[in-house]
Amino acid sequence: MPLDIDPRAADFIADPYPALAAIRGVQPVFRSASLGGWVVTRHADCKALLKDPRLSADRMGPFFAHMPDERRARVARLEATVTRWAVFVDPPDHTRLRGLMNKAFSPRAIEGLGHLVARRVDALIDAFAGRRRIDFIRDFAYPLPATVIADLLGVPLADVDLLKRWSDDLGAFVLTARATPDKYERAEAAAREMETYFGDLVEARRAKPGDDAASWMIGAADRDARMSREELVATCVLLLFAGHETTTHLIGNGMWSLLTHPDEMAHLRANAGDSAFVEGAVEEMLRWDGPSLAQVRVARDRYEWQGVVFEPGDRIFLMLAAADRDPDMFADPDRFDLGRDPNPHLAFGFGIHFCVGAPLARLEARIAFPRLLERLPRIALAPQTLRWSDNLVVRGLHSLELDLDNG
Ligand code: HEM
Repeated sequence: MPLDIDPRAADFIADPYPALAAIRGVQPVFRSASLGGWVVTRHADCKALLKDPRLSADRMGPFFAHMPDERRARVARLEATVTRWAVFVDPPDHTRLRGLMNKAFSPRAIEGLGHLVARRVDALIDAFAGRRRIDFIRDFAYPLPATVIADLLGVPLADVDLLKRWSDDLGAFVLTARATPDKYERAEAAAREMETYFGDLVEARRAKPGDDAASWMIGAADRDARMSREELVATCVLLLFAGHETTTHLIGNGMWSLLTHPDEMAHLRANAGDSAFVEGAVEEMLRWDGPSLAQVRVARDRYEWQGVVFEPGDRIFLMLAAADRDPDMFADPDRFDLGRDPNPHLAFGFGIHFCVGAPLARLEARIAFPRLLERLPRIALAPQTLRWSDNLVVRGLHSLELDLDNG
């Protein structure tokens, strides 16, 4: 049987790591028939290709360009928005957009959010503290990042669920190739509504700047004549979109990993007051079962690489999840070890597109886990059937039922 992975197979979705390790051991760069592109699984190779200027991050432009005209016209707003997202743009435009985002996400700006994150964490725990059963995703891992990114962008909390719905509709288009009924129409409608919403937000902040990331970015964009209004609005949409689902899955997958490794859970409880230990623990959660299985690049030109030939337009799936369990890079890679050091994982990517929100995601997880363990002395899994997301870019649980009193 030819070597391949089937990202739709139930056992791959539940636990993709054995299949990825088997491929890495046999053929670390191969052409996948099921994905219609190259699959790269070694850490050193993923890192090298994430820095290779012969590859483009623009995987949306070619997709729209290949659409029949009539269908393309029906998703015009969607195209205008996502093709301006820094994550899909190459230099020199990427450099401008990245500079704008860096204004809002400097490590210092994010550190200053610590009190706010701690307040949100406590309020969420207060809301379910008396209950025995919770859905950890619905009750904690989703609302924490969603409300923090709303605070950061200066969006009213009352609108968080609305923004989540728009984000989900965009995600069905951006994150998966699977055909679902009306996915184009819904993503287009979401893009239009978000354009109006964030367009109004930009105008309001321009008239009356606040102390929020949106105001800093708008101020910076207005001083920089090269930044268009469309780019500014698209960047707000990207930050909202990229900022919550991934962090939800860091917290959700992290809790799942702790519950399935009771010794490590005990280890974290015993060291919850040690900030260096907690920082390392969060890095190991990112490496072990991080929120992104793969990132995609597109070859610009024909060139030979590691004995294979990339043709222009070829898609290359960089399997971050496989790279982060590569025995050439990590000692005992199939062990979840919260004390692991060093831990040069690729969960936030590498190179010029390295996640701009990494300091924020880390801050949230570093505050959330010690508070959760301190305030919930007994956390156990409740009986349930787990459902993992079934796409390669994002990996996470739809729900995680916990029993908070198993004593
Ligand atoms: C644990 C949570 C997160 C993970 C695992 C994650 C993962 C990633 C990865 C792998 C990339 C690189 C994509 C590529 O190379 O094509 C990326 C880029 C990006 N992330 Fe995150 N992310 C997380 C949280 C966040 C947050 C909280 C935000 C914003 C508030 C954010 C905003 C972005 C943006 C804007 C980019 C594009 C950067 C660029 O192209 O220069 N992410 N993220």
